[in-house]
Amino acid sequence: MNTDQQFNLEGKVAIITGSSKGIGKAIAKGLAEKGAQVVISSRSQDACDEVVKEFTEQGLKAIGIACHIGKEDQRRVLVDQTINELGRIDILVNNAAINPVFGPIEDVDPAIFDKIMDVNVKAPWALSNLVLPHMQEHKNGSIINIASVEALTPGLGLGLYSTSKAAILMLTKNQAKEWGQYGIRANAICPGLIQTKFSAALWTNEKLLNKVQKNDSKRSHGTARGNDRYCCFISFKCRCIHDRRSIHR
Ligand SMILES: NC(=O)c1ccc[n+]([C@@H]2O[C@H](COP(=O)([O-])OP(=O)(O)OC[C@H]3O[C@@H](n4cnc5c(N)ncnc54)[C@H](OP(=O)(O)O)[C@@H]3O)[C@@H](O)[C@H]2O)c1
Repeated sequence: MNTDQQFNLEGKVAIITGSSKGIGKAIAKGLAEKGAQVVISSRSQDACDEVVKEFTEQGLKAIGIACHIGKEDQRRVLVDQTINELGRIDILVNNAAINPVFGPIEDVDPAIFDKIMDVNVKAPWALSNLVLPHMQEHKNGSIINIASVEALTPGLGLGLYSTSKAAILMLTKNQAKEWGQYGIRANAICPGLIQTKFSAALWTNEKLLNKVQKNDSKRSHGTARGNDRYCCFISFKCRCIHDRRSIHR
């Protein structure tokens, strides 16, 4: 059996948050190329529609549903509309996240702390909970949480972001432990520095980039494509390995 046959996602429906650009878009494309119907989502409906147009022109199956993941009413719309339009949810990729501050942890405004935790931790937890009954219905499902190498080793000036990503790793372990009984797998991916808009402040500043690389030379740096391969691998029914573990790249 070749890789295409092994990782065939025909008939599967995948929601990818924050998929109008960057890593989320690359993951959505990877899943769609393996046959999944993908739901492109971000705060802007126009941005989602643009990606849907691009994907459908390439023969891929995609719909666009705007959702600010920090807002419960919008999370519900994302799940309900996916079910109404596509009938099922097999894969949830909790990818969207924010990092509005850079600097010492003690200087961060408590309101910013709440915002980071709301979007980076509470939202993936709440969205996974909304998706849970739909995965339970088919006794199968895959939740993929995009964490970061920051979850494993603190970088420079990213303290609260780092903290939120470490929380996502533990959320993933708990989801795997509690929901494995329903046939639902939960995994996390910990990307290193990937050249996207999100991380532009780091990779466009040579001095800062050198500092980051010196701080942790084991971190890999790359482009958004690459993480999608892990997602395809995890999304397929390969239960034998990786459940309850994180992939560090
Ligand atoms: N880039 C890196 O070096 C790196 C490294 C490790 C981990 N990561 C993680 O990878 C994930 C994706 O990062 P990225 O670098 O691909 O970022 P990106 O290129 O800036 O893309 C972020 C995506 O999320 C959407 N988004 C932002 N806030 C949102 C919200 N509140 N609700 C819904 N959608 C939202 C954006 O669209 P709208 O603005 O239209 O909403 C966009 O589609 C994040 O979890 C990040 O922590 C990134």
